[in-house]
Amino acid sequence: MFFFSPIQAFLVVILGTTVLAMASIEQMWTEEWEVLIISLQATAPFLHIGAVAVVTMLSWIVAGQFARSEKAIFQICIILAYLAVLIALYLVPLTISSPCIMDKKDLGTKPRIIGHRGAPMLAPENTLMSFKRALENDVYGLQTDVMISYDGIPFLMHDSSLRRTTNVDSVFPFLSSEPPSMANWTDLERLNAGEWFLKDDPFWTVSSLSPSEIFEAGNQSICKLIDLLRLAKESNVTVLFKSLPLPPAHPHYKDRINITINTILASGIPQELVIWLSESDRQLVQKLAPGIQHASNVKDFKRLRERGITMLNLRYTEIIDEDIRESASDNITLNVYIVNKSWLYSVLWCAGVQSVTSDAANILHNVPFPIWVMPPDEYSLIWITSDLVSFTVIIGVFILQNYHLIRWRLGSIRTYNPEQIMLSAAVRRASRDVRIMKEKLIFSEINNSMDNAEELSLCSENRYDGFANDAISPATEAKVHSN
Ligand SMILES: *[C@@H]1O[C@H](CO)[C@@H](O)[C@H](O)[C@H]1NC(C)=O
Ligand SMILES: *[C@@H]1O[C@H](CO)[C@@H](O)[C@H](O)[C@H]1NC(C)=O
Ligand SMILES: *[C@@H]1O[C@H](CO)[C@@H](O)[C@H](O)[C@H]1NC(C)=O
Ligand SMILES: *[C@@H]1O[C@H](CO)[C@@H](O)[C@H](O)[C@H]1NC(C)=O
Ligand SMILES: *[C@@H]1O[C@H](CO)[C@@H](O)[C@H](O)[C@H]1NC(C)=O
Ligand SMILES: *[C@@H]1O[C@H](CO)[C@@H](O)[C@H](O)[C@H]1NC(C)=O
Repeated sequence: MFFFSPIQAFLVVILGTTVLAMASIEQMWTEEWEVLIISLQATAPFLHIGAVAVVTMLSWIVAGQFARSEKAIFQICIILAYLAVLIALYLVPLTISSPCIMDKKDLGTKPRIIGHRGAPMLAPENTLMSFKRALENDVYGLQTDVMISYDGIPFLMHDSSLRRTTNVDSVFPFLSSEPPSMANWTDLERLNAGEWFLKDDPFWTVSSLSPSEIFEAGNQSICKLIDLLRLAKESNVTVLFKSLPLPPAHPHYKDRINITINTILASGIPQELVIWLSESDRQLVQKLAPGIQHASNVKDFKRLRERGITMLNLRYTEIIDEDIRESASDNITLNVYIVNKSWLYSVLWCAGVQSVTSDAANILHNVPFPIWVMPPDEYSLIWITSDLVSFTVIIGVFILQNYHLIRWRLGSIRTYNPEQIMLSAAVRRASRDVRIMKEKLIFSEINNSMDNAEELSLCSENRYDGFANDAISPATEAKVHSN
């Protein structure tokens, strides 16, 4: 049996849980492998220490197998494999780099928060209530998607159909499979855009709302672009939006940009508070409203400035340290989407990102400081110390587990006795087996007049071999004990 004693079983359980915990690092099961890299930036230093602890504990099992194996080749394999893992693990921190391993004085200002479709955890997305909730959580800006209705009114909608976020199925079933822009505003304004939120509870947050908030959420309608712009102007916050393309059959297919820009100008919002995200039609926008700011997701640093772009807008899995350095040196602000978790926000903060688009403004706004920041010296000290402690423990465990072997070796050096060696070998091979223990007990009683019965009843392998030695030559025992 490989896993025999309760302590070994316990260690295996610990190992199993650790592996599971590592495998379920937040979000990893829903997101792609790319997330792994950035989540390692937040967790690697701690995973390293956890892994060192686990491998240190495993030394108990490894040393036990080493002690009990009869073939020297097997012992060498065990030791080499274990040492390889150990040394690799000990040196891993040399490859760990995290933006949060930095001096606290170099930490930049807290990244500004942009509410993604408002505050979609607190209110139905893209409604006035959602934008107001976001403003209550001190956002710097509001992000949304703009479409134009069949009769020429710009409104806010993300999906390619009205089904998810309105009650279109029950009110206008004929519109439910149409693109939202193919509906007239006169119909759109009659839809309810909040009941779905209470029913679907997309982020399990409805239970945290007050009765009046629930009533308000259930009473939302689709929001017009002009209403959002007026709110942003009043609150002096930035609006970032994507202007979504219309179907070619749409009557405003050609003048979509003109209508949208006219709405912006009519709202009276300062143009520098508007950030244009869509790549197409950028030149027309720059011609119609030169004050509007532009954001791009193309990492073409040389041409960004030339093209009048002041913001780089990247998904959090896409950014690398170089982007952050380059954008800073080119005077381009870096916005990262969609950041909902405090650990991710912390890593980006350490990295020097200026702003993030988030579903969770209510959470991030309460993050006063990155979750951890560690100066490089302090980190080196921590991992070197944990490596040294681990190594000391492992040496100790090996000595402990192989004590009987050491004792036996010492004994056999002192008195070379072929009979003793044969007997000891026999005893060692059988040492795990209780049945044979009994045989040995009988055997020892025949050979020995000493009454060492309690010593035997301890059933310890170490003592057992010791006893086998004693049995042959009590003189040896005396010598070994005197060591
Ligand atoms: C929108 O209004 C126009 C003019 O009133 C009408 O011709 C058209 O059928 C309406 N479209 C829908 C989808 O209701
Ligand atoms: C909101 O409530 C008012 C008053 O009860 C009602 O007239 C209106 O239709 C409701 N709006 C929506 C979108 O449910
Ligand atoms: C709006 O905010 C900016 C800083 O974000 C500030 O410089 C400006 O004075 C504010 N404008 C008004 C009208 O409050
Ligand atoms: C949009 O506005 C520009 C500038 O005023 C004008 O030249 C262009 O013809 C307009 N486009 C449409 C489709 O109306
Ligand atoms: C960056 O922008 C600031 C403010 O707009 C300006 O003062 C500064 O000169 C710019 N630096 C570069 C390198 O363009
Ligand atoms: C968080 O971000 C992901 C995209 O990375 C998004 O799919 C998810 O709905 C977001 N919101 C919350 C509250 O988790």
